[in-house]
Amino acid sequence: MARVFLSPPFMGGNEEKYVKKVFESNYIAPLGEYVNKFEDSIKDFTKAKSALALNSGTAGLHLALRVLDIKDGDLVLASSFTFAASVNPILYERCVPVFIDSDESWNLSPELLKKAIKNSPKKPKAVVVTHLYGQAAKIKEIMEICKNEDIKVIEDAAEALGGFYEDKALGTFGDIGVYSFNGNKIITTSGGGMLVSDDKELSSKARYYSTQAREPLLHYEHLDYGYNYRLSNVLGAIGVGQMEVLNDRIKRKREIFDIYNELLGDIGEFMPEISGSKGNRWLTTLLFKEKNAHIRVIEALNKNDIESRPLWKPMHMQPIFNGSLNFTDGTSEDYFSRGICLPSGCDMSEQTIERVANIVRQAL
Ligand SMILES: Cc1ncc(COP(=O)(O)O)c(C=O)c1O
Repeated sequence: MARVFLSPPFMGGNEEKYVKKVFESNYIAPLGEYVNKFEDSIKDFTKAKSALALNSGTAGLHLALRVLDIKDGDLVLASSFTFAASVNPILYERCVPVFIDSDESWNLSPELLKKAIKNSPKKPKAVVVTHLYGQAAKIKEIMEICKNEDIKVIEDAAEALGGFYEDKALGTFGDIGVYSFNGNKIITTSGGGMLVSDDKELSSKARYYSTQAREPLLHYEHLDYGYNYRLSNVLGAIGVGQMEVLNDRIKRKREIFDIYNELLGDIGEFMPEISGSKGNRWLTTLLFKEKNAHIRVIEALNKNDIESRPLWKPMHMQPIFNGSLNFTDGTSEDYFSRGICLPSGCDMSEQTIERVANIVRQAL
């Protein structure tokens, strides 16, 4: 039996055809028609006014800080319960991260956000809020708090393309939103990212920095330093093909969640969907009742050649962030101590999902 992966790439069918067209045109690199098409399809889907295709989501988060002029000792509040890539760019810009715990939504707690704003040693400049595992944070509340305090919002929607809050795409609430297309995301270009914003000035600044901050002159003139962060046309072609099947992927991810929920609803607590939202259910995640039960389950699944993993280890627990200021109340630490990401690949059959569920139950 083939190994069952957590969330492997799943091509729609047209990607190869589009990549072939790229080869025929010889616009292998750097940019080209398919990068533009990919950006347009993201704009169509999310209704963002601008979209910038990049070679990773991390690049997008870095550019977001750069174009919002957040740097050198500025305080940046961030979800603690997330992947390191959400917050590493804070360090790239020599800023100071301040971590905020989750609430029952599993995502950033608006109450702790207020507390952090009130009690931080100086006024925070921005918040990086993650929509974990494709499920919405309380983004409307968070936006309101930040608007009142004049704090910029960067939405880390790396895992959340296709998720919505009240009919508005996750990633389009903040000043800047970022999606990732790395290998295990809901759609993938093998590696890639997209920065979206309704502020066209921010977006064109990000475009400028993403191509080495080159001035629009015949020769290479530089007034500032930039990065090599754009996506190649070959990967853009994969992205265009993947966008054609995004709605199918969301539908299937949500079905997979429903099946697990049916089979295992009595043994734990699945990640919730906050009222007014519809997530993409990128990964089905659940908390067991007993601490460390997830370790037993992960080992049992692995013995059966099935990939699963613990929930993200909160950033305030990471050795690299020892001593960082945090506003936490034990919520994400508790989730980390008993939670699991179950295999959620769109190509999983019902039979495979049942097999996974049986192993989980037996291991418990
Ligand atoms: C929450 C989160 N933020 C940021 C990233 C970074 O995206 P990328 O791998 O495309 O740089 C990822 C995915 O890897 C992620 O899961």
